[in-house]
Amino acid sequence: MPDASPTKWHLAHTTWFFETVVLAPVLDGYRPFDAQYAYLFNSYYEGLGPRHPRPLRGLLSRPSLDEVIAYRRHVDNAMRELLADLDEDHPSAARTILGLNHEQQHQELILTDIKHAFFSNPMLPAYLPGQLKGIVRALSPAWAHFPGGVVRIGHEGPGFAFDNESPRHDVLLRPFRLALHPVTCGQYQDFMADGGYCRPELWLSDGWVLKEREGWTAPLYWLQRDSGWHVFTLHGLRPLNPAEPIVHVSFYEAAAYAAWAGERLPTEFEWEAVAQQQPVAGRLLDVNRLQPGASVGEAAVEQIYGDVWEWTRSSYDPYPGYKPFDGELAEYNGKFMIGQTVLRGGSCATPRNHIRSSYRNFFPPSARWQFSGIRLAGDA
Ligand SMILES: [Fe+2]
Repeated sequence: MPDASPTKWHLAHTTWFFETVVLAPVLDGYRPFDAQYAYLFNSYYEGLGPRHPRPLRGLLSRPSLDEVIAYRRHVDNAMRELLADLDEDHPSAARTILGLNHEQQHQELILTDIKHAFFSNPMLPAYLPGQLKGIVRALSPAWAHFPGGVVRIGHEGPGFAFDNESPRHDVLLRPFRLALHPVTCGQYQDFMADGGYCRPELWLSDGWVLKEREGWTAPLYWLQRDSGWHVFTLHGLRPLNPAEPIVHVSFYEAAAYAAWAGERLPTEFEWEAVAQQQPVAGRLLDVNRLQPGASVGEAAVEQIYGDVWEWTRSSYDPYPGYKPFDGELAEYNGKFMIGQTVLRGGSCATPRNHIRSSYRNFFPPSARWQFSGIRLAGDA
């Protein structure tokens, strides 16, 4: 798949980011490890020169993994030298912290990209060995009610945030409801059984065209076997657990499901207003369990963080007064603020200290290979 990259590329690219954005501007006499790597491992920075086409990253048999690891050691050593006399006011401090947060984003992408690569192998290999235990428990849809009003949205320090989370600003919300749980696989099966993929009245126009072209009849990674639906996970192929959150659906499928349920998706502002009231906790990155799990509670809004990224009904736009990062880093986020949709809350593959209530993830509405799921909302 053109969107996915090999693990070796991710490692080299995050290394290149530290080398180019943090080290080169401030270390006198710093010599890049290999002058060719800027072309191979620049992802999308037009201001930093031409680059290897993304769909061809999987063909980079050289440099070898050993060479990429040597590259990493070289940059690690230079970073150690820089960090030895770095205080928080040093201009490189902010860029180092950005480099670390950038690397966390790629840690999640490594997992979603491996998952897609393994699914593309007819042997369906498991990334993690061993059985995953899951509870099976039917939940009925239930809601929490919120009064709306003027809410403060966006990052409020201290601590790191990306430029796209600022400035903090007022948003007026009408009274609304938010589902206590993400939509489950069992609920999504009801949508499928009711002709969800065959009813144009439920679909956005672009989504219908894409679904027809791609032949979608179920979420990504669902496979029909004699004994029923199975789901491919990083733990291998497993029988579908109807109690687990639905995952690996596009925004278009999420929107069609919401239309079928007679509800809607939340705006990113409704989502954030609720998430601000909750501690960051839940099923986030755990190297032994890389799959969303069923909810156990019924009294409050559950699983707002972790498990699955939740598609919102908000397009990825700049906040009023938005200023991109300086210099070449202006390309980090701002230039993608067109044609993409915001997801919130993190997933089972998101590093725990990477997520917060103001965090804005974004993907094209067609994307399905991230751990993307659905939480419904409605007007009060
Ligand atoms: Fe990157």
